[in-house]
Amino acid sequence: PIPDGIVCVPDYEAPARERMGENAWAYVGGGAGDEATLAENRAAFARLRLNTRVLAPMRGAHTRLELLGQALEHPILIAPTAFHRLLHRDGEAATAMAAAATGSLMVVSAQASLPLETIASGARPAPWFQLYIQPDRAFTLALVRRAEAAGYAALVVTVDAPVSLRNREQRAGFRLPPGVEAVNLRGAAAPPPAQSTSEIFAAVEHAATWEDIAALRAATRLPILLKGILTAGDAERAIEAGAAGIIVSNHGGRVLDTLPATIDALPAVARQVAGRVPVLLDGGIRRGTDVLKALALGAKAALVGRAPLHGLAVAGAMGVAHVIKLLRAEFEVAMVQTGCATPDAIGPEVIWRGP
Ligand code: FNR
Repeated sequence: PIPDGIVCVPDYEAPARERMGENAWAYVGGGAGDEATLAENRAAFARLRLNTRVLAPMRGAHTRLELLGQALEHPILIAPTAFHRLLHRDGEAATAMAAAATGSLMVVSAQASLPLETIASGARPAPWFQLYIQPDRAFTLALVRRAEAAGYAALVVTVDAPVSLRNREQRAGFRLPPGVEAVNLRGAAAPPPAQSTSEIFAAVEHAATWEDIAALRAATRLPILLKGILTAGDAERAIEAGAAGIIVSNHGGRVLDTLPATIDALPAVARQVAGRVPVLLDGGIRRGTDVLKALALGAKAALVGRAPLHGLAVAGAMGVAHVIKLLRAEFEVAMVQTGCATPDAIGPEVIWRGP
C-alpha cells in the first residue's frame, strides 16, 4: 500500500531509499563523478520561471497527443531503466501494469529483469524496446526480431552509455543480488579479443557507430529513436542516419559528469530538428511543471526514469501508477494556469523571460 502523506513524487524518495536499502539506492540514485550533472538536471528546471496567462478558454482541454502513429493519453512516458526486480519482486510486470492503468507508454530496457515478451503482454499502449547495440551484431538483430514479434511499436537505441564510472555505486560496492539479471541478454557471444590494452577502450572497440544505426534502420520496419543526443550536430546526424525520433538525454547524469542539464540542451536540438522528427526529453523530471517546461522548449513528450522506480520500490504497480497520476495532475494544473488547453498549445511563451 501507499504510505500516508505522499502527495508528490519527491515524497517517494525517503520511503524508497528505506525500502531498497543503501546498496540499491546507490545504484538507482547515483550519477557519474561528482554528480554535478545529476544535480544540474534538477537545478535547471528549478531556475526556469513560468508565465501565467489568465482567463484563457479551456473548454475541451486535454493532454492527448499522437507520437509516431500512436495515440497517447498524455505526454509522460516511462524511461527505460534496468533491473526492476531489484526493487520489487514483480519487476517490469508491475511497471507494465501501471503503464496500462495510467495510459503511459513504457520503454522497456534491454537490461530488463523479465523476458521482453512477458512485459509486452501487460503493457498498453504498445511499449517501445530500448536497445544497446551489442558487440555481437547477430545477437542484436535477434533481439530486434523478438521485440517486433512481441508487439513493440518502436526501438530506442541508447547511444550515450557504453562506459561510465559511478563513484557512489563503486563506494557502496554495488552488486546485483542473485536471481536478478538481464535475462534478455543471455547468450550473447563474448566480444572478439580487443587490440587495446586499456579496459575502457577495449570495451568500446566493437561499440556502435553511425553505420550501425543506418544498418539497423534497413533491417527493421520499426521506427528508431536515438536516446542520448545533446547537441544540434548529433541531432542532424541522427536524422541523416534515419532516426524517426530523438531523445535529448544525459542518462540521468549517470554517464559523463559536467554535461549540461537536458532542459538547457533542448532548445538548440529542437531548433535544429525543426519539427522533422519528434524530440523527447528525459532527466530530472519530478514535477508536472517540469513536463510543461520540456514541452514549452520543444519536446513532444517527456520521460521519467527514477520517479517510477521510487514508486515501484515503495508500492509496486500501485506506486508506479500513483507517481504517473501525481505528475499528470500537476501537469494539468500547470496547463490551466499557463492558459494551454492542449499539449500542442504549450509554447515558449509559458516561460518567464523577465518583465
Ligand atoms: C537508467 N537509464 C537507462 N537508460 C537506458 O537507455 N537503458 C537502461 O538500461 C537504463 N538503466 C537505468 C537504470 C537506472 C537505475 C537509472 C536511474 C537510469 C537512464 C534512464 O533511461 C533515463 O535517461 C534517466 O533515468 C532520466 O533521468 P531521471 O528521470 O532519472 O532523472
